Amino acid sequence: MERPLDKQTVDNICIANGLRNAKELGAASIRQFVSVVKDIEAKMGVEYIRMEIGEPGLPAEQIGIEAEHEALLAGVGSKYPLITGIEPLTKEASRFVKAFINLDIPPVCFVPTVGSMQGAFAAFMALTQMREDRDTILFIDPGFPVQKSQCKVQGVRYESFDVIDYRGKKLEEKLEEILSSGRISGMIYSNPNNPTWMCLTEEELEIIGRLATKYDVIVVEDLAYLNMDFREDRSKPFEPPYQPSVARYTENCMHLLSGSKMFSYAGQRIAVVALNPALADRCYEGFAKRYGNDGQFRRNFIFNILYVLSSGVPHSAQYALAAMFRAASDGRLDYVGHTREYARRAARVKEIMIKNGFHIVYDKDCDQEVSDGFFFTFGYKDMTGEQLINKLIYYGISAITLAPTGSTRQGLRGCVSMISDYQYDELDKRLQLFSRDY
Ligand SMILES: Cc1ncc(COP(=O)(O)O)c(C=O)c1O
Repeated sequence: MERPLDKQTVDNICIANGLRNAKELGAASIRQFVSVVKDIEAKMGVEYIRMEIGEPGLPAEQIGIEAEHEALLAGVGSKYPLITGIEPLTKEASRFVKAFINLDIPPVCFVPTVGSMQGAFAAFMALTQMREDRDTILFIDPGFPVQKSQCKVQGVRYESFDVIDYRGKKLEEKLEEILSSGRISGMIYSNPNNPTWMCLTEEELEIIGRLATKYDVIVVEDLAYLNMDFREDRSKPFEPPYQPSVARYTENCMHLLSGSKMFSYAGQRIAVVALNPALADRCYEGFAKRYGNDGQFRRNFIFNILYVLSSGVPHSAQYALAAMFRAASDGRLDYVGHTREYARRAARVKEIMIKNGFHIVYDKDCDQEVSDGFFFTFGYKDMTGEQLINKLIYYGISAITLAPTGSTRQGLRGCVSMISDYQYDELDKRLQLFSRDY
């Protein structure tokens, strides 16, 4: 690209996609945004440097594909799968969690879900049904915007705060202030974090765990990017260092483990929820009243909530996930090593951005630099996120604003998964053009 794209043509494409002009791009939904970029590419013959969508950029793990193929050939396609999950999956999930997080969770406390998306949806529902006086979910932001949409769809009340201003010891005071209201039923965060790739420290997880016990709040720990803090090597099963987890500090927790990014298996929509055994067993008045039973968490979560959402999870995908968990725990599938490719790409992209006057918005984990990984955040001078994307669009670069993630900072989220090696020079060229103009 030698000059920015023609403004009128880009604006016309934005308008054709339901926006009034390119200035509304910052507020567009991600799907609308993708549609605008695709139309510009088709009409103007330019290839964008696409950083807006969090799609795996690696092939699906072959071990999963083969296991799924085998299961289909064996005839599972005609059978409803067990709602509690097929036995090989819950068994291997339990072993995998021991191998890579060093947690002891028995197979009976695992249940498959149609992606972690369904796991989170069911969790919000369960957590706000089980106690009548607890109606609110707390988001430790920035976060994955769709999870707030899930609360909106269900009419579930939520609160949130941007953790950046409350890192380390400061987190305790902030959580005390919010949890002491008595309305919070559960709280959620992702670690590593979508969109910033910040990772909560052991000190912060200890605070979260201790206060979750003190105020009897359930933590939903979203581990979509398990062990992708590439600052240390967590690739060896059953050997430290392990993924940090709140489960070392409280029994009031559940974990979301998705096949989407770990095994690049997003298309098959497969994940598991791991329930802390103490939580799984506990009985709650709200469930007892609503469903007319003893109110046990596990049974109500699985048989009354997950069951009505999809009546189980695709049978063959469960075999795939079981095989990938097994191979990872055996040391035959190095998923950490495979996904480390994202860190390599992020390091290159961030270096090119900084060289051209951009900055990393969420750059620190307390006193450490954030890890390189799937996502990163960037800004330019004092531009707002909206202003920045409304300008970058003419330079063939796409990303989404931080605003819908609950961020209090201005900037964009970039995802490096779709970037190929041949694009680094072009990115540099386009950013040079941009920084010359602004
Ligand atoms: C933090 C986080 N949680 C959950 C998900 C959804 O995972 P799944 O594909 O398993 O539904 C994503 C996907 O982008 C994510 O970033």
